[in-house]
Amino acid sequence: MKTDNSLQKEIELYLEEEDLDKEKIRNFFEGKLADISKTRLYEFSKLMAYYRCAMMEVETKLNVLDVEFSLQHDRNPINDIKVRLKSFKSIKEKLERQNLPFDLTSMEENLNDIAGVRVVCSFPADVYMLANALLKQDDITLVSKKDYIKNPKPNGYRSLHMIITVPIFLEHEKKLMKVEIQLRTIAMDVWASLEHQLRYKKDSVFTKEMADELLYCAKLSEELDDKMDNLRSLTLQ
Ligand code: GTP
Ligand code: MG
Repeated sequence: MKTDNSLQKEIELYLEEEDLDKEKIRNFFEGKLADISKTRLYEFSKLMAYYRCAMMEVETKLNVLDVEFSLQHDRNPINDIKVRLKSFKSIKEKLERQNLPFDLTSMEENLNDIAGVRVVCSFPADVYMLANALLKQDDITLVSKKDYIKNPKPNGYRSLHMIITVPIFLEHEKKLMKVEIQLRTIAMDVWASLEHQLRYKKDSVFTKEMADELLYCAKLSEELDDKMDNLRSLTLQ
């Protein structure tokens, strides 16, 4: 087993990012610390590093599409890209919620959103252009797609969600990793961020009136997107 500095660094990075102390780690893995600090924590960190690589791969592909488009059309379809790895805590809680084992095989098989990429686009048309351009690439495979733009959620949430696999090339093997991609416009992103903040605000109740108001705001954001898309198509003439 590898016990060199790079492994140590990888582990330390996780502990730092997650702000975890050893007691918490012990609880996460429900085993002895001696065990954890060697094989299991190493294997976990390694898998998370693979997810990080897959996420970077997708981010680069999107940036390449953004550059190519801006050379041709003199504007950027991508406003912002955010990437995130699911935390130890969220992974464990999500598996437990579904009564699934908390181990590496179960993580890989059952969780689609360990690596997440959120793409905030300028216009609705850009969302579909980017999604199609990405799916056309021969190393990308679509696992599932949910179009909450054509079919918004009952609360008003809109975004295009895709689970894809992307290969990462390791020294001795090629490994297909799952990545969740959420594509949305600036207006959709503003709505989703504020809705999330309001819904999960500590010590306050999320009332029916607030839900209705948010649904109304979602409709306004859709109107804004439609008007902006019309303006965009005018610039094409
Ligand atoms: P999980 O929610 O990840 O368990 O998966 P799911 O299979 O229900 O997936 P779905 O594609 O519906 O949602 C995945 C992600 O989209 C969530 O984790 C959020 O980041 C985002 N999302 C979905 N619905 C909403 C919503 O109503 N409001 C906000 N703000 N975000 C949402
Ligand atoms: Mg999720």
